[in-house]
Parts: sequence; structure tokens; C-alpha cells
Amino acid sequence: MATQGYVFSNKKRNGPDDIDGGDLKASKKGMLLPVGPNSWEDDPAAAFASARHEFGEHGGVNMSIEASATFTVMEPETMRRMFSGELGPDRDFFIYSRHFNPTVLNLSRLMAALEGTEAAYCTSSGMSAISSVLLQLCSSGGHMVASRSLYGGTHALLTHFLPRACNINTTFVDIGDLELVKNAIVQGKTKVLYFEAMSNPSLIVANIPELSRIAHDKGVTVVVDNTFTPVVLSPAKLGADVVVHSISKFISGGADIIAGAVCGTASLVNSMMDLHQGTLMLLGPTMNAKVAFELSERIPHLGLRMKEHCKRALAYATRMKKLGLKVIYPGLEEHPQHELLKSMVNKEYGFGGLLGLDMETEDRANRLMHQLQNLTQFGFMAVSLGYYETLMSCSGSSTSSEMNAEEKALAGISPGLVRMSIGYIGTLEQKWTQFERALSRLRDYGPSTKN
Ligand SMILES: Cc1ncc(COP(=O)(O)O)c(C=O)c1O
Repeated sequence: MATQGYVFSNKKRNGPDDIDGGDLKASKKGMLLPVGPNSWEDDPAAAFASARHEFGEHGGVNMSIEASATFTVMEPETMRRMFSGELGPDRDFFIYSRHFNPTVLNLSRLMAALEGTEAAYCTSSGMSAISSVLLQLCSSGGHMVASRSLYGGTHALLTHFLPRACNINTTFVDIGDLELVKNAIVQGKTKVLYFEAMSNPSLIVANIPELSRIAHDKGVTVVVDNTFTPVVLSPAKLGADVVVHSISKFISGGADIIAGAVCGTASLVNSMMDLHQGTLMLLGPTMNAKVAFELSERIPHLGLRMKEHCKRALAYATRMKKLGLKVIYPGLEEHPQHELLKSMVNKEYGFGGLLGLDMETEDRANRLMHQLQNLTQFGFMAVSLGYYETLMSCSGSSTSSEMNAEEKALAGISPGLVRMSIGYIGTLEQKWTQFERALSRLRDYGPSTKN
């Protein structure tokens, strides 16, 4: 059991169910307890080091994978008590892995540590984290206010799916205009204010403290998607109530897993697991234990990876600007939210690993990406982000194609916008040379033929 902050997960069902034994604190009915000493002042890396370290069943330095869909009990009465909610994961009682699973719970503790929230739970994708938390917080007839600059999938969920399937409607606003946000909230009706800490793909930075204050004054829950800036920004520390992630991106780092997380209060996570009303339990998008194990091995070096992504993105953005290119990067002084971002970031991680290069037309964007991938090997033409290789896509015709032309224009997505997720493979100078070679070939090739 717990020794100097370490926990050996060797509790066995080889005797009577140890309901009142051990050093587990009695808790509220079968619920997930807050994860405990996750608080950190200014660096999430400190929280990783002080989070509970789970050893393997035989003393391995890595935790064992609880690859079971279902869990045994020694006494039939225990089952009834688990289903009544009297016994739960906080006391090492698990029912079924669509509900809490011990390995997924361990990764979830790390996610709570990352975001400085009381609790978290991991899901099978970023979209399932977003849809599950919104459906938990809003009922039919409910209203949300959201940023008009959102990932295309989220924009489609809010614009098309939720109104049709659930009668939940959203007013989209420019979150840079705080008066607009205030006026869009209908007191008593609006349940959620939703935005991305740094928007996909336009890299607009949200004023998290002010937006949270406005929402809280009107009793509205603030949900922030922090997919673009894990470690760099900590929305819950800045006032948000819930932080959602697409773990598929930087947190995974391998471009091999689709996953997500909801980070918030223990009561929110418990409500999402409720046997009668919980979106995670009843819609069922929880994470597989084997996936949770894989991901938990990558969390300890997330901070190091983010530093390198951010360092290279800043270097390239600065050099692209010098070449006269139209570059969008929040780490550059001329970015409209640069000072705001500086006031919110956790120090020494940088300003994000993505940059935008506005090539003005889709044709020029495509020709540049072709050179960068097929002639100089600077990166890959692919959607997604957070990989060790640079990934590039023309947002308007790919990850934001769900939006119509007017919505794209309002969201700041020009037809020639190339979103680049800057990787860290190779050396910075080697990759920059590849970029310059591709650019010069594009110039040699002459002006665009199409517009
Ligand atoms: C900002 C943002 N949020 C959420 C998602 C959805 O995540 P997933 O693909 O893991 O479902 C994405 C995917 O691109 C994204 O960019």
C-alpha cells in the first residue's frame, strides 16, 4: 500500500473483500476521490514528479496493465454495494472497464496533474471527450456560447450535430471581443462557454482569465480545449472549470493513437460515470487499458518534447518573417495576442509548436507543401499535430473544410493557410535548409497559374 507517496498495486481478491481495511480513507459513496497533491505553482512538470507513482504487480518500475473488461468480487454482497455506489475506485473496487479501469485511472491522474485539476478521465478520442462533457453539462433546450475559431470537427458538432440530435444550440462569437461574449450569454439558459486556448488553425489566443470571469459572473461553466498547448498553458489554473484534450496530438507525440481526456472536478468526472445519467458510462467512449499504459509512458517527457517543438517553431517563424513570408505565430511580437500569451504561459516552455504560413491561395499552398515533402523532406503532408516530424496541411480544404466560406473567413482561415506542426527530428539547421531549398524552388517555378 502507500509507502512514501508510492503505491504498490498489489491488492488482491484472494481473501474476503477488504472493504474497511488498508489505509484507504473512507469516502463518499463509491466515488472517485480528488487525486490529491496535484497542486503546483508554475510548472506542471513538478506535478508529474509528485503524482502517485504506480509500480507493477511484481515490483516493476512501470505499472501493470489491468487488461480486464470485468472484475471479480469474493462476496456477492460486494457486487450489490458496488452497483449502489457505496464502493468505488477510490477504495479499489472496480465493476467493468467501460466504467472506471485502474490503468486508465492512473493515466487520468497524470492528466489531472498536468492540468492542475482535482480529477480527470481519459476517453477514446478528443471528440468523445468534447461531446461527452458538453452533453453532461447541457440538456435538451440548453444553450452554449462558443468561439467562432474552433477545430472543424468541434465546429460541426456544435453547428450541426448537437442542434439536430439534442436540441442544444450554440451562439458563435469572436472571443477577442469580451463585450460580445458577455452579451451572447443568456443568463439562466447558457450553460457553457467553450473555446480553444489556442485556436485551430488560426492560433488565436484566448484571454482565459477574463473569459472565465465573465462566464462565472453569469453562472456559466467554462470548458477549454487545450490540445494545442499542453504544458505551455494551464487553463484551469487561469480560471477555467474544465479542460479537454485530444491526447492524439502532442501528449501522445507518436501519431499512432487516438485518445482524449476530460479534466475537471471529481464531481464532474463522477457525474460522467453515473450509472443512470453519465455520458462516459452510458455512451461508452472510455479508453482501453492497453492504450492508457502506452500513453502513461510518454507523459514524463511531454514537457521536454514541448520545449523543443516550441523552440523550433519560434526559430522558423522568426526566420520566415525575415524572408518576408506571411507567418502567424503567437511567439512573435507582432502577433495580436503575444503579450496576452506571455502573461499566461508557464515559463520556459515557449509559445506553442504550431505556426501558420499564409500562402494566400490554395494553389501556392499546395505547391509549397509538395516541394517541402517530395523534394526536400522538410515534413509530411498530413493532418494532425504534435508528431516528431513536421506535419503540414492546408486547413481550409482539410481540417476546417466542415466550415463554409463565410465561417472560415470569420475564423481567420485564408484559403492559402498552411498549418505547420513543427517537429523536432533532425537538427534545426538541417531542417531549415530543407525549408529554404523548397522555398527557392517554388520561386524558381514562378507565380501561381491559378487563383
Ligand atoms: C483542437 C482539437 N480539438 C479536438 C480534436 C479532436 O481530437 P481527436 O481527433 O482525438 O478526436 C482535434 C483534432 O484535430 C483538434 O485539433
